[in-house]
This record gives sequence, C-alpha cells and structure tokens, in this order.
Amino acid sequence: MSAYVLVLYYSRHGATRELARRIARAVEASGLPARLRTVPSLQGNDEAEVAGGDLICSLADLAECAGLALGSPTRFGTMAAPLKAFLETTSPLWLQGALIDKPAAVFTSSQSAHGGQEATLLSMILPLLHHGMALIGLPYDQAALMHSRDGGSPYGAGHIGERPRLTPSEADLADALGQRLARWCRQAPAATREAQ
Ligand SMILES: Cc1cc2nc3c(=O)[nH]c(=O)nc-3n(C[C@H](O)[C@H](O)[C@H](O)COP(=O)(O)O)c2cc1C
Repeated sequence: MSAYVLVLYYSRHGATRELARRIARAVEASGLPARLRTVPSLQGNDEAEVAGGDLICSLADLAECAGLALGSPTRFGTMAAPLKAFLETTSPLWLQGALIDKPAAVFTSSQSAHGGQEATLLSMILPLLHHGMALIGLPYDQAALMHSRDGGSPYGAGHIGERPRLTPSEADLADALGQRLARWCRQAPAATREAQ
C-alpha cells in the first residue's frame, strides 16, 4: 500500500471542510496522496450533510497513514464533540503505538478572530501528542503569518468568518501546512522504519 496523508476533519457548515480540501490539494501537489475523511455527527440524523461527500474515517484509515492533518470548527474555544468522540475510539491504536513518530498538523475555523482558534488548535494537539505524533506547525518564513489579520497561526491553519471561502492568506497558510506535512512525512522516523 502506498503512503498517504490522512486529512481528517469535522465540519457542520463547510468552512473546516474548505480548509481540509485545500490542505489535501497541497499534499497531493507535493507528491503524496491525500485521503480525505470525516466523522459522524453526534445526532446521527444529518450524517450525509456533515460528511459533505467524504467518507467516514475508519481506525484503519488512521492507523495506516504516513501523517495526519486534523481539523475542527472552534466550539467554545475547543474542538467539536464529534471529533473528540472519534478520537476517544482510538485507544487500540494508542495501545499498539500505531501513530508514534508520524507527523501531524492541525487546522480550525471560527466565527470570530478572537473566538479561541489557538486554544482549539492546542486542544487537537494534545491527544495527538498522547499518541506520540510529531506535531508540525507553521514557521514565520510564511509572510502571511506576520502580516495577516485572517486565520492561521504558528499552531496551524485557520479560517475566520461566516462564509466558508478562504482569504488569500488563509489559503497560502493552508497550502504551506499541507506542503510541510508532506515533506515531513517523507523524512519521518516512522517512514524510515517502514522503508527498512
Ligand atoms: C456550538 C458552537 C460553538 C461555537 N463556538 C465558537 C467559539 O467559541 N468561537 C468562535 O469564534 N466561533 C464559534 N462557533 C462558530 C464556528 O466556529 C464557526 O461557524 C465555524 O466556522 C464553523 O465551522 P464549519 O463551517 O466547518 O462547521 C461556534 C459554533 C457552534 C455551533
């Protein structure tokens, strides 16, 4: 099976999905296949709408990835419950150490600029550290980080606003994150071990 980057997200209204798709395209432009997956809503009655056409993630999708981009809307300054619920099904992978040394990155969408984007990104980083993943962010060689008033931070990619459409700087930072993730996936100790 060829190496792929899993882009796993939850999105209710499409903004986080927009970021996920942009990151997946950047991964693929960098030469690695991207696998877009989502998680079910907790209500269970609007799964098709939530999925937005992408398949629901299986544990195998996660276990076998070379790296992970994980995204959620900002909800009260933390990740959305459906994504947290999925992560709480991943104990078997934690027991196997299936994600150790694999690169990971995070992204979020929020209504307002100071609505808790960075706290949400950190809330997604914590369980990934428990899994032993190697978190990568966005370095300040990205011009948009220094000057932009839109989404995105050293902690990961982001979108701010009511409509899903990304601004040019949000798109640039999502591209940079996808490219960086793909680059790290090729160099990661986990990839080196598998190649031996
Ligand atoms: C229950 C709930 C809590 C939210 N909490 C926040 C918040 O703390 N800060 C914020 O800026 N936006 C908040 N929002 C707005 C969403 O983060 C925002 O609309 C986001 O872009 C939705 O992403 P989606 O289109 O991928 O579903 C909240 C929305 C909901 C439904």
